[in-house]
Amino acid sequence: MSQGVPKTRAEVKDLQRLRQLFLEAPGRQGLEDYWQDESLLSLYDATYARRIGWKWEAVLAELESRGWQIPANIRRWLDWGCGSGIAAETLIQFAAGSLPDEIVVSDRSRKAMQFSSQKLAPMVPNCKVTTCLPENAITNQKDLVLISHVLTELPQSGLETLMSRIMHAGVIVWVEPGTPFCSQRLLEVRARLKDTFAIVAPCPHQKSCPLETREGDWCHFFAPPPPIVFQDSFWATFAKEMNIDLRSLPVSFLVLQNNATTGKLPSGLSQCKRLIARPRFLKGHAKAMFCNSQGNATIEDLPQKKFKREFKEWERDCFFVQLTSDQDSD
Ligand SMILES: C[S@@+](CC[C@H](N)C(=O)[O-])C[C@H]1O[C@@H](n2cnc3c(N)ncnc32)[C@H](O)[C@@H]1O
Repeated sequence: MSQGVPKTRAEVKDLQRLRQLFLEAPGRQGLEDYWQDESLLSLYDATYARRIGWKWEAVLAELESRGWQIPANIRRWLDWGCGSGIAAETLIQFAAGSLPDEIVVSDRSRKAMQFSSQKLAPMVPNCKVTTCLPENAITNQKDLVLISHVLTELPQSGLETLMSRIMHAGVIVWVEPGTPFCSQRLLEVRARLKDTFAIVAPCPHQKSCPLETREGDWCHFFAPPPPIVFQDSFWATFAKEMNIDLRSLPVSFLVLQNNATTGKLPSGLSQCKRLIARPRFLKGHAKAMFCNSQGNATIEDLPQKKFKREFKEWERDCFFVQLTSDQDSD
């Protein structure tokens, strides 16, 4: 789908300004509300938000392939820091058969809440779409919380407040850019919540994260870009104007399910280890980091001869790559 925006130089400038703001956000202690009007939200929704949606699609596809389903007791989804509502929108497409009674969009920006609720409501005619200011958002076990690309905008105190608010939710699905900054903060969240929640993804274990204390490595994966990125001139122009590589979609994420929530957790991961980031392909072999079911992260040397098929796959798409221990033995 070609969005056909931005159409004017002014719109290009608005999007460039927004990108600059996002890039500088981690160095600041919070950002002022930047959603000046509906037209900026609309531009964002047609461009940057689509790219975020591709990341959500990869995460949700992984959950599906792990056999995870939204627990039956979930009645409400809360898209926290909703912006234009891409997180809820993507989940609606994935979970069409198990929609909740209510979808709540929450953002400090009233304009964002208005935009996203108006966009989402027609997509879910049998479901109530409501708005809620973040300070009034209280969660319980019937809630599934969606959080997307907000970590860089929260000062530490804001993150603490958010964690205390989502502490009692049934499920949390949190997707962020795959940067060292976001990965580190997500690990903080993981460490804080891991006694109350089971870790559904990305980890193959429930222990402390080995990357918490490892300098220079961070937990991230690469979502596959959709074919449209290579086929549609709109995206080529957009990538050039914004100086953004649409072929690379680094993601850090965390999916948690409250221990008190009855719902099946994926099983059969005990023998698996998961690829972190991308392998480094060398002549005849590759070096790659794997996180294993004992809670260790190790660098492994993989001979191409033995992993011929896998090498081909990994060159294309490295999002959810697992090896079993069987593959270790010669
Ligand atoms: C980069 S946008 C991401 C929007 C959307 N979640 C997405 O993935 O496209 C970050 C959003 O977080 C919101 N936000 C920032 N700080 C917030 C806070 N303290 N409370 C609630 N929302 C906040 C912003 O208004 C903005 O809509």
